[in-house]
Amino acid sequence: MSTAIQFEDITKEYEGKTIIENLNLSIGQGEFVTIIGSSGCGKTTTLKMVNGLITPEKGTITIHGEDIKIKDMTTFRRTIGYAIQGSVLFPHMNVEENIAYVPNLLNKKEKEKTKEAVSKWMKIVGLEGDMKERYPYELSGGQQQRVGIARALAASPDILLMDEPFGAVDEITREQLQKEIKRIHEQTKITILFVTHDISEALKLGTKVLVMDHGKIEQYAAPQEILSNPATDFVQKLVDKERRICHLPEEKLKDCEYSEAAVCDVR
Ligand SMILES: Nc1ncnc2c1ncn2[C@@H]1O[C@H](COP(=O)(O)OP(=O)(O)OP(=O)(O)O)[C@@H](O)[C@H]1O
Ligand SMILES: [Mg+2]
Repeated sequence: MSTAIQFEDITKEYEGKTIIENLNLSIGQGEFVTIIGSSGCGKTTTLKMVNGLITPEKGTITIHGEDIKIKDMTTFRRTIGYAIQGSVLFPHMNVEENIAYVPNLLNKKEKEKTKEAVSKWMKIVGLEGDMKERYPYELSGGQQQRVGIARALAASPDILLMDEPFGAVDEITREQLQKEIKRIHEQTKITILFVTHDISEALKLGTKVLVMDHGKIEQYAAPQEILSNPATDFVQKLVDKERRICHLPEEKLKDCEYSEAAVCDVR
C-alpha cells in the first residue's frame, strides 16, 4: 500500500502552548482512518493541517510524497474534499449549484458533464434528484449534511477529510449516512480521515482507528486490534465502554470483524 499522507515530527503550538507534539503518522492510500479522542485533543487541528488550513510550527506533511508547503494552496485545497459538522453550504446557492461549485471552478467549459456528475453524487449520498433546485434553508439537517458530503465528493478528491460529519443528525439518518460513506469508500477507494466522538462509529467505519489524547497518538491500529489489544489505559477505557454497550464476552470480541460488521449487527 502506498502512502497517501505522512506527518513527520509535526508540532503545532498556539500562543506558546503545544497542542500537537511531535506527531508521526503514515496513512496508506485507500485507508479509512477514524480519529477519536477527548475534546480539545487536536483532532480538528490534525485534519486542518492536511489541507493547509493550519500550518504547523515544526515538521513536514507530505501528500503522495510531496511536501504540501511547496504547493499552491488554493489549487491544492480543491483536490481535497472537506466536510464538517453542521451546514456549511452556500446559502444563496441551490443544491445543484452547491455541489457543482468546485467542479465548475476546475473545468468551466464542462458544465454539462458537471450536471451529470451532480446527479450521480446526489444519488450516491441518497438525495432525490428533484431537490436540485432547493436552497439549504429548504432542507432538513440530514439532507444538508448529505449535500455537504456530495459537494466534498464532487471534486473527485482522492483524500476526503470529514470532521464529525454526522454529529448533528438523528440516529436513523446517522446509520444511513454511515452505510453510505462506507459504500462510497468501498466503491471509490479514496483515502478518508474521519473525526468522530463516537467509539462505535470509529470502530464500525474505520479500516484503521487513530486514538488521540492531548495532541499525542495513543494508538493507531485496525479496529480489531484496538479492541483486543488496547495500547494504553486511555484506549482501554474507550474500549471498555464499547464492550459494555456490545455486551460481548472476550472470546466473541476476538471473532467479530469490526471493520466489516456494523456494531449494531453484533449487539
Ligand atoms: N485558533 C486557535 N487559537 C488558540 N487555541 C486554539 C485555536 N484553535 C484551537 N485551539 C486549541 O487547540 C486545542 C485543539 O483544538 P482542536 O479544535 O484541534 O480540538 P478537537 O480535538 O477537534 O476538539 P473537539 O473534539 O472539541 O472538536 C484546543 O485546546 C483548542 O482550544
Ligand atoms: Mg474538533
